[in-house]
Amino acid sequence: MVISTKIEEALNRQINAELYSAYLYLAMASYFESHTFKGFAHWNAKQFGEEQGHAMRIYKYIFDRGGRVSLDAIAAPQKEWKSPLDAFSMAYDHEQKVTGMIHSLVELARAEKDTATERFLDWFVNEQVEEEDHARTIVDKLTLAKENLGALFMIDAELGRRE
Ligand code: FEO
Repeated sequence: MVISTKIEEALNRQINAELYSAYLYLAMASYFESHTFKGFAHWNAKQFGEEQGHAMRIYKYIFDRGGRVSLDAIAAPQKEWKSPLDAFSMAYDHEQKVTGMIHSLVELARAEKDTATERFLDWFVNEQVEEEDHARTIVDKLTLAKENLGALFMIDAELGRRE
């Protein structure tokens, strides 16, 4: 069964949201690079790749269902943050927003009786649990570290080991 126009449009909006996420993490990577937090930069650059993977997963699915991919402009992300905590707090807020979008997509798939899309979205529902957990854990650590540079560079080194 070919995908409905409503689902196709919603999935295309999600591709845009995932590419915006990628862009946001790349902006954060560049912010951290220029402030000598190489580990935070590395973590965000990895996340940039993850988000592109999310977009491509949806891209492929739309074609698998006989739909069309339609790419829109990606909004410019913020360029500067006040601190690592400020940046990662924004990442955490953003991930919660993305979770909301995924859950709305699931509701739409249910309303449209599109079981295949509902199943496809399961992966994203689970992924968002992980994404939020990762961001929240980093926010918690940075909150504890406060302005302590030694602690900040320890967290930076830990995030620099992300594979
Ligand atoms: Fe693609 Fe970070 O959610």
